[in-house]
Amino acid sequence: MTPPQFEPRYTRDNLASLQSHILAEERRHPGATGEFSWILSAISLAAKTIANKVRRARIEDVLGEHGDHNLHGERQQKLDVIANEIIMRCLGDRANIAVLASEEDEQPVLLRDRAEGGRYCVLFDPLDGSSNLDVCVGVGTIFSILRNERRAPREVPHHLQPGFRQVAAGYILYGSSVVFVVTTGNGVDMFVLDQSIGSFVLVQRRIRIPSGTRIYSINEAYLDAFPEPYQRYLRYCHTSGYSSRYIGSMVADVHRTLIKGGIFIYPPTRPHPGGKLRLMYEANPMAMIIEQAGGVALSGSERTLLIRPFDLHQRTTVILGSEDQVDILRAFLAGETPPPAPAVPA
Ligand code: AHG
Ligand code: MN
Ligand code: MN
Repeated sequence: MTPPQFEPRYTRDNLASLQSHILAEERRHPGATGEFSWILSAISLAAKTIANKVRRARIEDVLGEHGDHNLHGERQQKLDVIANEIIMRCLGDRANIAVLASEEDEQPVLLRDRAEGGRYCVLFDPLDGSSNLDVCVGVGTIFSILRNERRAPREVPHHLQPGFRQVAAGYILYGSSVVFVVTTGNGVDMFVLDQSIGSFVLVQRRIRIPSGTRIYSINEAYLDAFPEPYQRYLRYCHTSGYSSRYIGSMVADVHRTLIKGGIFIYPPTRPHPGGKLRLMYEANPMAMIIEQAGGVALSGSERTLLIRPFDLHQRTTVILGSEDQVDILRAFLAGETPPPAPAVPA
């Protein structure tokens, strides 16, 4: 009698939710305690709640400015504040979280130390691209999870760690559908919110960033302020069959880059000579996602994930995308001029 033939682990018609998938992944980590899925399930709950607010923004009149400026001097949108409160309320009661650090708050919220069970630090941008809200363009939430490591020099809080120490990172894109993209260091998986059952369902596992895509994403309004090698790179793109795509929400621009390939760039500009995007809760989580999908993420010539942070809200320049596309820009930054790109096949 032939032995039973077991189906492969993920057959085409499996229905895996975010929770079941994370629990399955946790079982791959010896000694995992299920604490991880607890945090991700809180982020999933916050995401569904924020998605609902974003979708109903015009109806509930929560669009527009909050009337305050945040610590970065940027005008806060009402939904920035609402999203921040939703995340704080969803994660605040998770007993294994030590620190909650938000783009919207000057100081991190210290919930409990390690002795009281605080094992993880969660850093987040509650609403990314919020200036696009009023015009119904995709916005998102970005999160980064670090272990609560005791640091030797006491004055350095234990959430200021370089990006390579992230244990998980991801984003939710509130777009034509609500997409949850996450990595726990074992590849990048994508879920879509099925509104009819209220669950994020798995739609793609182990995403790999495509190479050979001639799409560059940069705010060319600042062209004259870009350092000269970036200007030479853009002239190369203009004569090499590239398309320009720039949404102005990092989550939307990075998601397109992850799925279609290409390159996303936020270089030094006159308003932000050190770059505009924040290292700890924008650049680092996105860098982990892109590297886990086989791409490259740099700040200038340095690998973003190696930057040793000194401040929760420090900014950095960003270059991320498929290796072949980042290599072309890297050549220009190194003072070289790559050969003209081969003609785009008709
Ligand atoms: P946030 O809304 O969280 O402040 O982030 C906005 C960021 C990022 O989403 C986007 O890539 C960038 O700002 C766009 O900046 P410019 O408008 O200067 O191009
Ligand atoms: Mn942002
Ligand atoms: Mn934001």
